[in-house]
Amino acid sequence: MRIAIAALLASATMLSPLMAQAPTPPAAAPAAPAAAPAAGDAAAGERVFAQCRACHQVGETARNLVGPNLNGLFGRQAGSVAGFNYSPAFKTPAVAEKVWSPENFAVYIRNPREVTPGTRMVFAGIRSENQIADLVAYLRQFAADGKRTQ
Ligand code: HEC
Repeated sequence: MRIAIAALLASATMLSPLMAQAPTPPAAAPAAPAAAPAAGDAAAGERVFAQCRACHQVGETARNLVGPNLNGLFGRQAGSVAGFNYSPAFKTPAVAEKVWSPENFAVYIRNPREVTPGTRMVFAGIRSENQIADLVAYLRQFAADGKRTQ
């Protein structure tokens, strides 16, 4: 069995240069839409967001729950949702001066309590780069009013 797999792998490796030389079909697929810094999959991101739903909502009817709504997150000042009672940790200048971007969100969501000690967001974090990229793709669909932009 092991040999069979090894043989398969070997033939695949041998084949790939041949495949690379194959002429590209004239009707090439349309170019992918301008990719985000991390091009994730929004549908997969919606499944990742299941981990956030106990505390966060997005969309036109989104309310603040345990955590603030996450509409229009990227470009939004951290700790700025009206009517949400943030922790003192989120009111420190280091956090309050932050504007959420896919990049600093990716850092935060890996380990919220390490990035922002004292935060009320009790969440272990997401380690998978792919899942974070998917989550970014999902969240960036929601404009500040909760309407989907894509
Ligand atoms: C157990 C509840 C809980 C879970 C689960 C949770 N959060 Fe939070 N989140 C919070 C709370 C509470 C805050 C406010 C933090 C504070 O005031 O310290 C927050 C804050 C945030 C902020 C900052 C918002 C702002 O207005 O600056 C982001 C972004 C965020 N969460 C994203 C997520 C994502 C994405 C997930 C899922 C992967 C998630 N959170 C899971 C409770 C949670």
